[in-house]
Amino acid sequence: MGNAQAVEPKNTTVSDKVSMDELVALCKRRGFIFSASEIYGGINGFWDFGPLGVLLKNNLRDRWWNDMVIAPPIGPDGEPLQIMGVDSSIIQNPKAWVASGHVDTFNDPMVDCKLTKLRYRQDHLVAVVDERNGQIFAFYQEALEDKGTLKKLKKQAGTDELEKLKVIPFTAIPASDYGKVIGPDTDQKGTLTEPRKFNLMFKTYVGATATEDDIAYLRPETAQGIFLNYKNIVDNMRVRVPFGIAQVGKAFRNEVTPRNFIYRSREFEQMEMEWFCHPDEAKKWFEFWTDARKKWWEAVGVSPANLQLRPHDKDELSHYAKAGVGTVDVEYRFPFTAPGFGELEGIAHRCDFDLTQHEKHSGKKMEYFDDSVQPPRRFIPHVIEPAAGLTRGVLALLAEAYTADPSRPSQMYMKFKPSMAPVKAAVLPLLNKDGLPEIAQKLYYSMRTKFMTEYDAKGNIGKRYARHDEIGTPFCITIDTDTPKDQAVTIRFRDTMAQERVALDKIETFVQTALKE
Ligand code: GAP
Repeated sequence: MGNAQAVEPKNTTVSDKVSMDELVALCKRRGFIFSASEIYGGINGFWDFGPLGVLLKNNLRDRWWNDMVIAPPIGPDGEPLQIMGVDSSIIQNPKAWVASGHVDTFNDPMVDCKLTKLRYRQDHLVAVVDERNGQIFAFYQEALEDKGTLKKLKKQAGTDELEKLKVIPFTAIPASDYGKVIGPDTDQKGTLTEPRKFNLMFKTYVGATATEDDIAYLRPETAQGIFLNYKNIVDNMRVRVPFGIAQVGKAFRNEVTPRNFIYRSREFEQMEMEWFCHPDEAKKWFEFWTDARKKWWEAVGVSPANLQLRPHDKDELSHYAKAGVGTVDVEYRFPFTAPGFGELEGIAHRCDFDLTQHEKHSGKKMEYFDDSVQPPRRFIPHVIEPAAGLTRGVLALLAEAYTADPSRPSQMYMKFKPSMAPVKAAVLPLLNKDGLPEIAQKLYYSMRTKFMTEYDAKGNIGKRYARHDEIGTPFCITIDTDTPKDQAVTIRFRDTMAQERVALDKIETFVQTALKE
């Protein structure tokens, strides 16, 4: 009964700031994110990014690419780091996934309910134990923050005093006690099966014959595409260890229970960088990247109060990180984890695991020859890997931006950092006459070549402001009946709603300067 805690009923199912229901509704209403195949009833674990969502996602992706590949950080010795980009195939030779360990070990433990046919991830369930009679109730951790679940629990346990029940990880329940367990979606005992391993890789067939010999996998991480190109890059690109290889792209995992909107989906995007260094320097680089990555999330607008670094416990470490200096997660306080945190990015010391495995399985030497020291040395580099979720990053930016404000017609606004905002500026002619559209269009044609600008001439101005508050446009520029006379426009600031008069020929530079902050 280690890690036991009392059940703490909460008044709401949401973080103090925004509920997931509100966020999901806004994402749909304003064109950020839709269910994939929505007209066919959707498909669990898959999402489509709409016009606003793709702009937001690309802004985050481009910022990462810029800060990793175009202008990587300055290293601890004051020299700029060398990081190169790749864009590898999603489907690789299936032997690569045997070598990486994914065919044998990329499994999640699942339990099935024999009655409801529902499937759960054993390590995501908690057991609520009634020590008076040994009765055990299984729930997803976050369900315990739900009023309805707590009501059901009180009824099933026959008590209002939930603090008497103990919550422990479900993995701590021995299979011999499963007979005492009431599953999350039943009232009956003993309906859950013992945990079974379920491989998360999506399989497909390459070629027309579709036999067992033609099986291939959709990549479950972008990282292996980097390791597979390590030799090409060392041999052809005149790099010296330490250096990095970066990649952004889709990854696919047949998650047992995708949930929490885009947080855990079956198709998602990662931004991964493998940093190859001498084994003796792994600790130094691990600390460097941990610090750099947390600061990066702050730089894209995530408040430090909602971020934390969490070192993995020894028993949580992946097979490749066991012998290393560790793994640290950068965690964000998502609405469904609040007041707790959920993983946004992992920084792992993968040792020489991947290169050694690929050397063994491919027969190709992965050693690096270093003649910059005397005597020259040969070694297989160790790897520090900052692996971030782009899709999860978008969710963090959305949750972070959502700001309730009852004083506005929209009741809220999206406080994106201006450089991350999908639309940077809106050009709004107050009237569709008196020469205002002509001035507005001229300004729009010029601004849209510099940054994402919308021309919005429909509806009353209050409604237009409200929509731009909802999509997080930091600057609204209104061309009014005074503009033809004074050659000035009104700029409205999203966060304060303050308005300022700025000369028409200065407004573009004004916005550009503000976007740099
Ligand atoms: N190469 C190491 C690796 O893939 P990971 O912790 O499994 O490590 C890295 O994944 C990041 O990818 C996570 O921190 C998370 O942001 C994102 N991620 C992982 N699984 C995901 C899923 N099912 N849906 C959305 N994002 C996911």
